[in-house]
Amino acid sequence: MKYSALLVVSAFIGAVCGQVPLPSKPLGFTYGKGNTSAPIQLSAFLGPLCPDSLNAFPTLLQVADHYGSQNVRLITHQFPLPYHRNSFLAAKGAQIVDVLSSGNQTYRWLGAVYAQINEFSNDATHNKTESVVQAMYASIATSLQLSGNAFNVMYKDSAIEESTRLDWKYTATRGVAWTPAFMINDVLIQAEPTWTLKDWSQVIDGLLGSQRPPSKRETLSSCKIGTKTCEYLPGKVECCTKGEACIPNVGCRC
Ligand SMILES: *[C@@H]1O[C@H](CO)[C@@H](O)[C@H](O)[C@H]1NC(C)=O
Ligand SMILES: *[C@@H]1O[C@H](CO)[C@@H](O)[C@H](O)[C@H]1NC(C)=O
Ligand SMILES: *[C@@H]1O[C@H](CO)[C@@H](O)[C@H](O)[C@H]1NC(C)=O
Repeated sequence: MKYSALLVVSAFIGAVCGQVPLPSKPLGFTYGKGNTSAPIQLSAFLGPLCPDSLNAFPTLLQVADHYGSQNVRLITHQFPLPYHRNSFLAAKGAQIVDVLSSGNQTYRWLGAVYAQINEFSNDATHNKTESVVQAMYASIATSLQLSGNAFNVMYKDSAIEESTRLDWKYTATRGVAWTPAFMINDVLIQAEPTWTLKDWSQVIDGLLGSQRPPSKRETLSSCKIGTKTCEYLPGKVECCTKGEACIPNVGCRC
């Protein structure tokens, strides 16, 4: 409910003073050979230094690998949170790596930064200047066989700065105020960062029209006689009365 209020407020602000520069190409990083015609376009809005985003990241790759690029296209948007002091710089690093590697190393970069998340925390870098942190990021780029010099030059590039800001601004216009956030075909899905491949499959299989496996949890629920158990998302159950339908991602509604 808090989120809906926030959405309304941000939509209002957007309508009044929203001027986001037009991107020269679609925003976000596509995983692998993700096909723009895939029926499931799964967007993940991740904080580059957010521990919950770190938890969700490997599962997202698993989901994309499991379904393949013809069925699921994974797109990652970076939403660096201001209270993770070095995360905007990490997001810039991802944009640089994306350009330097023509997109080939971008997801490896995201994973490599998550693997060192503690070294970039506010506490661990309290005494470090930005240039020291930049050098730490450059060494991650080097570990991906990219040129550290080229990384450092592009770190000052205004186009890199602009594309990093643009992905952030875009995410803000979608009403996202937390990470990780997920959308399927541009609609927010109330997925948890802890969801497993099995949880995601429960949702995606339904959308792809495959048989949805009956959930064990349904038998455990205690809906009153005359009502129907509705597991509208993995682990989220409501009891639908007569006339209400069980709508995935929504719950019991008329
Ligand atoms: C993307 O998917 C469409 C529809 O399934 C298919 O026609 C097209 O060949 C695919 N493109 C690539 C590059 O695989
Ligand atoms: C990226 O990968 C593609 C396909 O594997 C390859 O053709 C291309 O040369 C690579 N680009 C760079 C910059 O590594
Ligand atoms: C930061 O510097 C102060 C003063 O030199 C020192 O007392 C503190 O232990 C340092 N903190 C870290 C995390 O290195």
